[in-house]
Amino acid sequence: MSKMVIDAQKRKSQIHKEIYGHFSEHLGRGIYEGIFVGEDSDIPNRNGMRVDVVEALKKIKVQVLRWPGGCFADEYHWKDGIGPKETRKRMINTHWGGVVEDNSFGTHEFMELCRQLECEPYVNGNVGSGTVQEMQEWVEYMTFDGISPMAEERAKNGRLRPWHLKYFGVGNENWGCGGNMRPEYYADLYRRYQTYVRNYGKNKIYRIMCGPNARDYNWTETVMKLAGEYCDGLSLHYYTFPGGWDKKGSAVNFDEDCWYLTLHTAQRMEEIIEKHSAIMDRYDPEKRVGLVVDEWGAWYDVEPDTNPGFLYQQNTMRDALVAALNLDIFNRHSDRVTMANIAQMVNVLQAVILTEGKKMVLTPTYHVFDLYKEHQDATLVESTLETETIGGEHPVTNLTQSVSVNENGVMHITMGNLSLDQDYPIQCTILGSKAKKVTGRIVTGTMSAHNTFDDPEAVKPEPFQNVEITEDGIRFTIPRCSVIALTVE
Ligand code: AHR
Repeated sequence: MSKMVIDAQKRKSQIHKEIYGHFSEHLGRGIYEGIFVGEDSDIPNRNGMRVDVVEALKKIKVQVLRWPGGCFADEYHWKDGIGPKETRKRMINTHWGGVVEDNSFGTHEFMELCRQLECEPYVNGNVGSGTVQEMQEWVEYMTFDGISPMAEERAKNGRLRPWHLKYFGVGNENWGCGGNMRPEYYADLYRRYQTYVRNYGKNKIYRIMCGPNARDYNWTETVMKLAGEYCDGLSLHYYTFPGGWDKKGSAVNFDEDCWYLTLHTAQRMEEIIEKHSAIMDRYDPEKRVGLVVDEWGAWYDVEPDTNPGFLYQQNTMRDALVAALNLDIFNRHSDRVTMANIAQMVNVLQAVILTEGKKMVLTPTYHVFDLYKEHQDATLVESTLETETIGGEHPVTNLTQSVSVNENGVMHITMGNLSLDQDYPIQCTILGSKAKKVTGRIVTGTMSAHNTFDDPEAVKPEPFQNVEITEDGIRFTIPRCSVIALTVE
C-alpha cells in the first residue's frame, strides 16, 4: 500500500491556466487541413476553421495558442499573410516539407481561430531574419487603436478595432534555427527588439525572451544576466526523444524497454525546470519572470509513407503518460512555470487531434488534457506520495501526481501509473478537509493502445469507480499503465 498525504491547508502557487496551452506552426498538416480548410471546403467550417476540431479543442479548454512557429516564425514575414487572399504571396515552406505556403492563414485568420477557441493568442515574432521595424509594425497592426499607417492598413483589411494581444515572443530558438546566435549576441538583440514591442492603449504585452534548449544552462545564465530585466517570460524547449535525436523510433511499435526509456526521458523535465529555475532565482528572486515551456512533447519517427518534413506521428498510451508526467511537473512548479504549450496541437508531433480528410480522432494525449483541465487556475496544494523506482536500466518513478483545490473548495487529484505490470493500492490521508463524495475518470489500455480513423475510441476516458471514502481520506488502486483524475468534494 503506497501512502499519500494531501494537506489541503498548505496552499502553494496558482496553477496558471496557460500551462494548458498549445502550439501550432505552419508545419505539415498542423494548420492547413488540420484546422484551417477555407470557407469553400466541403468539410464543415466556420470562417474557414473546421467545426469538429474547434469544438473538440474547446472541450479541453485550450487557454493559449502559440503561432506561427517554431522555426517557421524566424522565416515568417507577416505582411505576406494579410490582404486579399488572391494577392498573397505563394512561396515554398523551405523549413517544413518543401510544400507551397500560400499564406491564406495569416494574422486575421489566427486571431479568428483564437476567438473561436476563446483562448489567448501568443504571437511569435521574427528576430532571425526579420527587422526591428517589421516587428514593431506587426505589434502596431495588431494592437494600435488610433491613427497610424498600420491601424489604417488593418481597417482596410476588414478589422477596424485592434485585437487584444497579451503574449509576444521575441524570436524562437535563436540558438538554433532562429539564427544560430550566441547568448550574448541574442541578449543584445532581445533588448533592442523588445524596445519596439510597444504597449498601445490598454494592451499590455507579456514579452517572452528566447530561452534555452533543454540543458543549456549557460544560455539561461547569460540572457537572464544581460536582459532578464526586460522580459516577463523566458521560454524553454524540451522534447522527449527516446534514444536521442537519431534514434527516436516508431510511435506505435516499441517494446517495454523503450516504454521506460521514453518515460525516463520525459521525467527529466523536472530536473531541467529545477536547474533553470535555480539560475532564474539568482537574477529574479521575486519570480517576476515566468518560465514559459512553449515547446514540449514526445518526438518519434514520422508515420511510414508520410512526408518526413510534416512530423506526423501516432499517439498511444505511452503519450498519455508523457502528457501526465509533464502536466504534473508543470503544476508542481507553477510558482515559476507560467505557461506551457504542447507541440503541436493538430497532426504534428504529440498532437491532441489527428485528422484525415473529413475524419478526426482524439488521441490519448487529448484525453489526458481533458482529465487535467480541472487544475486550470486552481491552487496547487501540498501532496506527498510514497513512490519507488522501476524501469530497470531506464529508472523512472512509478507514480506521478498533482493536487489542486479550486475556488469552490473542490479538490482535484491527478495521478499516472508508469508501471506496465503493477497496480498500486493508494491509502490517501487528506488533512484539513473531509471527503464526502468522490468521482473519477480513467484513461488506460495496453502500452501501445491508440485510436485510428477506423477505431477512434479504442482509448477513451471511462468512469473510475472504485474509490472508497475512509475515516481520514480515500483509498483506491491505480491500475498499471493508466492516468486517473479524481474530484473530491
Ligand atoms: O515543433 C517543431 C520544431 O521544433 C519547431 O519549429 C522548433 O522550434 C523546434 O525545434
